Amino acid sequence: MAELEGLEFGKSDFVLLDEVTMEQFLENLKLRFDKGRIYTYIGEVVVSVNPYRQMDIYGKETIDAYRGRELYENPPHLYAVSDAAYKAMKRRAKDTCIVISGESGAGKTEASKYIMQYIAAITNPSQRVEVESVKNVLLKSNCVLEAFGNAKTNRNDNSSRFGKYMDINFNFNGDPTGGHINNYLLEKSRVVQQQEGERNFHSFYQLLRGGSDEMLEAFHLQKDPAAYTYTKAGVAIATSNNDRASHRAVLSALEVIGFSEEEISSIYQILASILLLGDVQFESDGESVQILGLEAVNHISELTDTDPDCVIKSLLYRTVATGGGEVIEKGHTEQQACFGRDAFAKALYERLFGWIVSRINSVIEVKDYNPVLHGKNTVIGVLDIYGFEIFENNSFEQFCINYCNEKLQQLFIELILRQEQGEYQREGVTWQHIDYFNNQIIVDLVEQPHKGIISILDEACLTVGNVTDKVCLDSMDTKLAQHPHYTSRKLSPTDKTMDFQKHFRIRHYAGDVTYFVEGFLDKNKDLLFQDFKRLMYNSANPVLKEMWPDGQLGITEVTKRPLTAATLFKNSIVALVDKLACKEPYYVRCVKPNEMKSPVLFDDARCQHQVAYLGLLENVMVRRAGFAHRQPYDRFLQRYKMTCEYTWPNHLMASDRHAVEAIVNHYGFQDDVAYGHTKLFVRTPRSLFTLEQERAAVVPILVLFLQKVWRGALARMRCQRMRAIYTIMGCYKRYKVKSHFWEVVRRFANVRTMADYGKSVEWPTPPATLSQFHNNTVLLHRRWWARQIVKNIPPSDTLEVRAKVAALTALSGERKQWGVSRAWERDYLANVRDCPATSSGFVRASKELRNKNEFSWVLFSGFCRKVNRFNRSTDRGLLVTDKFLYKLEPKKQYKVLKRLPLEAFTGLSVTSGADQMVALHTASQDDVLLCLQRGELCPNQDRVGELVGALVDHFTRVRNVQFPVKVCRSAVEFHMRGKPKRVTVETKPGQAIADFKKSRDGFILLVPCN
Ligand SMILES: Nc1ncnc2c1ncn2[C@@H]1O[C@H](COP(=O)(O)OP(=O)(O)OP(=O)(O)O)[C@@H](O)[C@H]1O
Ligand SMILES: [Mg+2]
Repeated sequence: MAELEGLEFGKSDFVLLDEVTMEQFLENLKLRFDKGRIYTYIGEVVVSVNPYRQMDIYGKETIDAYRGRELYENPPHLYAVSDAAYKAMKRRAKDTCIVISGESGAGKTEASKYIMQYIAAITNPSQRVEVESVKNVLLKSNCVLEAFGNAKTNRNDNSSRFGKYMDINFNFNGDPTGGHINNYLLEKSRVVQQQEGERNFHSFYQLLRGGSDEMLEAFHLQKDPAAYTYTKAGVAIATSNNDRASHRAVLSALEVIGFSEEEISSIYQILASILLLGDVQFESDGESVQILGLEAVNHISELTDTDPDCVIKSLLYRTVATGGGEVIEKGHTEQQACFGRDAFAKALYERLFGWIVSRINSVIEVKDYNPVLHGKNTVIGVLDIYGFEIFENNSFEQFCINYCNEKLQQLFIELILRQEQGEYQREGVTWQHIDYFNNQIIVDLVEQPHKGIISILDEACLTVGNVTDKVCLDSMDTKLAQHPHYTSRKLSPTDKTMDFQKHFRIRHYAGDVTYFVEGFLDKNKDLLFQDFKRLMYNSANPVLKEMWPDGQLGITEVTKRPLTAATLFKNSIVALVDKLACKEPYYVRCVKPNEMKSPVLFDDARCQHQVAYLGLLENVMVRRAGFAHRQPYDRFLQRYKMTCEYTWPNHLMASDRHAVEAIVNHYGFQDDVAYGHTKLFVRTPRSLFTLEQERAAVVPILVLFLQKVWRGALARMRCQRMRAIYTIMGCYKRYKVKSHFWEVVRRFANVRTMADYGKSVEWPTPPATLSQFHNNTVLLHRRWWARQIVKNIPPSDTLEVRAKVAALTALSGERKQWGVSRAWERDYLANVRDCPATSSGFVRASKELRNKNEFSWVLFSGFCRKVNRFNRSTDRGLLVTDKFLYKLEPKKQYKVLKRLPLEAFTGLSVTSGADQMVALHTASQDDVLLCLQRGELCPNQDRVGELVGALVDHFTRVRNVQFPVKVCRSAVEFHMRGKPKRVTVETKPGQAIADFKKSRDGFILLVPCN
C-alpha cells in the first residue's frame, strides 16, 4: 500500500476496490491516469498505462527513493517491482523474472528499458570495470535490437516486431555479470511487404538516410529509400524516428558491444543485398524465366561475396533430388522465382537478426564462471513480448502470437495461484479453493499432438500433393468440431461474421479471434529453396557463412523435412514457459489508453477490452478470494500501532503477533483475518481500509505531537547550548580578569622599592570589561605614585612645590617659560646672592614690617619696573606677603610707598611670552602693571611663574578664594583708575632692560632683543 498518495489519486491497489467490477476498475484506472498516476498495483502486479508523454518519474531521486524499499512504502512504480525482483534474487538467491505484457504500443519495451536502467543504477556500487562493461552492453543492446527488430506500424512508431526475453545474470554480490537474449518470431514478412501506413524495419531507413556517401556508393545504393521496392512504401510515412541520428547511435552501440569493423560492414552489406534483391525482376518468354538487368545481381554477388553465376542460378532454378539419388535442376516459373526471391530476402534478414542476437550473447555470456568460487549465479529475466492481437485480418502471425499469450496466461494463473497457495501453506493458513478460468483447454486446442491446430497444419504441410489452406480448414473443422473454443462458418452456419472456407475462430481467453486461413500453410512451411542456403554457405564472407550452417548439406543429404514455423515457434514458447516457470515471477501489465497516442485521452471501450483480455479483474479476484492483504507482523505493527492505545507507542505484550491481535480485536476484525506464522492475512480490503483511514486520521495528530516534542527538544537543546555558552563565557571572562589581575600584580609587585615607584612599568592591556576598572587603577597608581613623590618632599620645599603646582595649573601649559626647573627662592630682595648690595637693608625693613604684625610670611619679593599714575615707569621693590602687597622705594631703604591689602586683588594677567610683565587686577579697577626684574642670581630667570604660583597657591589654599590667571597671547588688558588700557610687548633693538612706554591706548613693553 502506497504511502505519500492521497485518496484523491484513486486507489493505488485495485485490491482495495469496494467491489471488483469492471466499472470500478476502469473508474479507478481512469482517475489515476487523469491525475498522472500511470502505475497501479494488483498486489505485486503493476498495471501500467502508457502516458504518451515524458514523465518526471524516472530520475535519480526516484531511483534512490525506491532502492531497497518495500512495495508499499512508495507509490506504485516499475521500480518497486524491479526492486522486489532484485531483492528476492539477492536476499533469497531466487531466480526471478519480470513478465511485461500488453498490446502493441502499450509501453512494454519502454517499461523493459526502465527496468534495466533501474537495475543498472542500483548495482555495482563499487564501479567495478568489468561489471560496468556488462551493464553497458546490456543497455546498448536495446538500441541495436530496436534498429533491426522494430518498425513503425499503425499502432506504434517503434513497434517491436519480435519477442524478447533477456536473462541478466548476477553474482553473489548482486552485480550483473552477464546475460542472454532470446528472440522469438521475428515478423520477417515485413521485409518484403508492409501494410499501408507502415514501414519496413528501421535498419533499412537508417542505412539509406544515415549511411555515409562512401558507404552507400560502395554498396551500390542510392541515398533514397523511395528507390527500393522493399522500402518505398514506407518513405512518405511521417514518424517520430530520426533515422540519421539513430544510425549513428546504432553504429556506436555496435562498436561498444564489440562488433568488429568487418562484422559491422557485413551487417550493412547484407542489408544492401536485401534491398537490391527486392529490385530483381524476372521475365518469362513462355519457356524459360530470365532476370531483368543483371547489374543488380552482380552487385548482390559482390556484396555477399559469392559467384554471380551461382546467384543467378539460385534465383532461377532449384535443385531437386529425384528418386535414385540423382539430382536435377528445375527451372522456376516467374511466380516461383518471385516467391523464391522474397523468401530469400526474408530469410537473409531473419538470419541476420538471429546472428546479431547471438553475437551480442557471445559478448555478454557469463565467462569463467565457477559456482564453487563464485557462489550461486542468479538470474533476473525480463520478458517483453507481443501482447494479444485482434486485427481486422488475423493471419498466421496473430495465431502464433495469441497462442503465446495463452501460454503466458496459463503460466500467470498457475504461478499466481501457486504462489498464493505456497504462501498459505508456509504460513500455516487454511487454503481456500479459488475458482478461476483455466485456459489450458485453449492451449490444448492449439498445441495438443495429433489433435491440435498446429498438428493439423503440420500434417497438411507434410502431405504430398496439392493441399491448400481450404483443405486444411476442412480438416480442422472435422477434427475440432466438438471443441468448445473452436468454430467456423461450417460449424456455425448462421454466423455471418465468418465466411465459408475462409475463416475459423478461436475463443481465446481474451476474446474471440477470427483467423483468415489463406497463407497459413505457406507461412507454416516457410519454404526456402535449399539452393539459397548453399549459396550463402559458400560465401567467402565468414560472417555470412556462419549464418547459414545448414547450407553445408548437399541436396542428397537433406532428407528430413525442416520443422514448420508453427512447431518451431511452439517449441520456443514451451522452452520459454519452462524457463519462466522455475522463476519467481513479477508482472507488468501494460494498457494502451487510446489509439491516438494522446496523453489525455482515456478510451473507455479500448481500456475495458484490454483489462478484460489481460485478465486483470480475475487477477484482482484471485488476489482477494483468499486474503486480499498480508503483512509480516512487525511491519503491520509498525504501520498501524498508532491506531490502538495498547500498541502506541510501544506494546508490552509477549510478541508482535500478540500486539497485532490486540489491534485486530480492538477493531473487531477477528473474523476477517488469519494468523500465519510470520504474517497477518486480512481477508477483505475494507478492514484494511478502515485501518488506513484510522491511521490517516491519527497521523496528523502524531505529526503535530512529534513536531511539538521535537520543537521542545530543539528549544531545550538551544537553551542548554546558550547556558553552556554563557558558562563558558563567564569562565573565560573570569579567567581573563584574573589573569589581568595576576599580570598587574606581577608587574607592580615591586613598585614600592623601585626608584620611580613603577612609573615606567607598562600596564597590561585589560579585557574590555575591565577598561573602567583599569582607568581607575591607573589613576590610583598615579595618585599613590604622586603621594610617594610628595611624601618625600622635605617640609622646607613644600611651599615651593605647592606654588609650582598652583602655577602649573593656573598657566595650564600656555606659557612656555615659567621657571619650573629652578629653585624658587621667593624672597629675592632678602637674598644675598641675588641682591648682594641691598639685601641687608631690605631684610631690616621687612623685619620691621613683620614686627608690626603686618604680615606673617613673604610670598614673593623682587625688583620690578612699574608704571605709576603719571604713566611714568620707575624701579620699585615689590613685596608680596600673606596680608599686603607693598611697593617699596629701594633707594630709600625700602620705604613703603604703597601698601595694598592682598584681598584687593582679584586675579592677574600675564603674556604667553618670555617677558616678565604682570598685570595684577584689583576689584577697584586700579590695577598694578609691573615688569619683574632679575637680580644677580641668574640674568634670564623667569619669575612670573613663581609670582603666579605663590599668589594662586596662597589665594586658593590659604584664603580659599579663586584667583584667576589669564595668559594673553597678544595684548594684556587691564584698568588704570577705572580706565581700560592695553599693554603690548615689543622687542626693541638696543633696549638694555625691559621698560614701559606710553602708547595710544595704554603702554608698550619694550624688551631687549634676545
Ligand atoms: N513510460 C512511458 N513514458 C513515456 N512514454 C511512453 C512510456 N511508455 C510508452 N511510451 C510511449 O509509447 C510508445 C510505445 O511504447 P513501446 O514501444 O514501449 O510499446 P510496446 O508495448 O513495446 O509496443 P510493441 O508491442 O509494438 O513493441 C513509446 O515509443 C513512447 O513514445
Ligand atoms: Mg515493443
